[in-house]
Amino acid sequence: MAFSGVHRDRGELRIHESVEELSTNLADYIADLSEASVKERGVFAIALSGGSLIGLMGKLCEAPYNKTVDWAKWYIFWADERVVAKNHSDSNYKLAKEGLLSKVPIVPSHVHSINDSLSAEEAADEYEFDIRQLVKTRMVCVSDISDCPKFDLILLGMGSDGHVASLFPNHSVLDVKNQWVSFITDSPKPPPERITFTLPVINSASIVVVVVTGESKAEAVHLAIDDLGPNCPSLPARMAQPTNGKLVWFLDKPAASKLQSVQFCE
Ligand code: 6PG
Repeated sequence: MAFSGVHRDRGELRIHESVEELSTNLADYIADLSEASVKERGVFAIALSGGSLIGLMGKLCEAPYNKTVDWAKWYIFWADERVVAKNHSDSNYKLAKEGLLSKVPIVPSHVHSINDSLSAEEAADEYEFDIRQLVKTRMVCVSDISDCPKFDLILLGMGSDGHVASLFPNHSVLDVKNQWVSFITDSPKPPPERITFTLPVINSASIVVVVVTGESKAEAVHLAIDDLGPNCPSLPARMAQPTNGKLVWFLDKPAASKLQSVQFCE
């Protein structure tokens, strides 16, 4: 690894020499978390995002993880989803199904995806209702300080504009406090209609991992992590700050190239 350390207030930084190294370490990290969570509470509630993240998780489908991970204990959710049919090429469900879920023995009834026959607003409401049922039975934990669900792990990618999940810069969805799942119909990144976990839910997780690769994201990584004083732009990725949980950044060297907070080990 090129660098591994803890930033004063922006979590743990894991900077990798290559995308290959990052995906190996990411698979290892997720497998360890799964093991710890299954040992502690019998299940592992994990929320995925779309984009390059699923490809970067690909090593989980290979040896040894395909055999060693207790897949039957996984409960799968999405931190955000595009409101399109499940077989549409834009669907985050389809991406995860083809890239991960179909390759390992996950229990189909543990996969909690949105109802794709509804409007964005209805799909968000129904998804929140689904999660509420799982919180009641403690398949998903509840936060110690709010009524929010406490996912064991929320995995996020980040756009070059600093968005995470479907929380885009300067969008009113960033202000939603009283819902777990919200919706937007004007996403700057297509497709326009999406549902998304709100910031209170992301920030109630036990662990939030943000996975970012490539030089095109370097400026956003800098703005999301470095100490920039009072004039710091309010980037959604910077607002991801679990209250009682842990924040971990999985970066490759190009994505980390504008970070002021680190010096690479040579
Ligand atoms: C989506 C996402 C989104 C994604 C980032 C990063 O559905 O669009 O969940 O938040 O994770 O845009 O995507 P890339 O890693 O592909 O750049």
